[in-house]
Amino acid sequence: SSTRTRVSFEVGIQQLGGRALFLSDRDIQLGRGEPIADTAKVLSRFIDGIMIRTFAQADVEGLAEHGSIPIINGLTDRFHPCQVLADLLTIYEHKGTLEGLKLAFIGDGANNMGHSLMLGCSKLGLNVAIGSPKGYHPDPEIEGWARENAKAFGSEVLITEDYMEAAKGADVIYTDVWSSMGMESEIEQRKKIFAGCCVDDKLMSVAKPDAIFLHCLPAHRGEEVSASVIDGPHSVVFDEAENRLHAQKAVMAL
Ligand code: NVA
Repeated sequence: SSTRTRVSFEVGIQQLGGRALFLSDRDIQLGRGEPIADTAKVLSRFIDGIMIRTFAQADVEGLAEHGSIPIINGLTDRFHPCQVLADLLTIYEHKGTLEGLKLAFIGDGANNMGHSLMLGCSKLGLNVAIGSPKGYHPDPEIEGWARENAKAFGSEVLITEDYMEAAKGADVIYTDVWSSMGMESEIEQRKKIFAGCCVDDKLMSVAKPDAIFLHCLPAHRGEEVSASVIDGPHSVVFDEAENRLHAQKAVMAL
């Protein structure tokens, strides 16, 4: 099931004059164990590009390695780059700049959003602070890449267990679900660990007065975000959702 990724890509390619073919794992032989390399080689003979939304990052990289057409990562359990392009566009629209701003991500720092936000922000001169519970900090390899970006592009990366410290003075507050796709068996345990890891009015009050609130959606009101924040004046989550369409059209055109 995919509300934003599938619909925004299908509509986007149509608006660009192309045509989209939707293939679930039940529609192609991948689901029956055909190697990703063979799938990549065969699909490259029929179509002009692939957007893949899956779990394993290795599948996306396998398509890119063995295919001869552009491969777009529409979401894996490690990264969500198209979402971050839409996020950066949204921040730019609301703030008029990216460089020198501070974005705080409050949530699971080791999930796809935590990882991709760290990489995207650090590349564009946005200071990024990850506030996440102990044991849920970003993958050290990805943190290393973000720190290299930060050095090269003059941004800062902070990782902390103190959500208030992360949010302090931020221009952008971001959160995501406590349990990402594929973590369904951990939901109950994570509810205990992440209790308190919530963007509510108290947390928003330590950010800049004109801070915007972002969430990749789907959201769970009362868990990672209060209804007063996501449905309140700081929230631009539906501009953000719309920007999936525009940012991805740019990616496809490129
Ligand atoms: N971290 C979330 C993002 C959903 C767009 C998940 O993987 O479920």
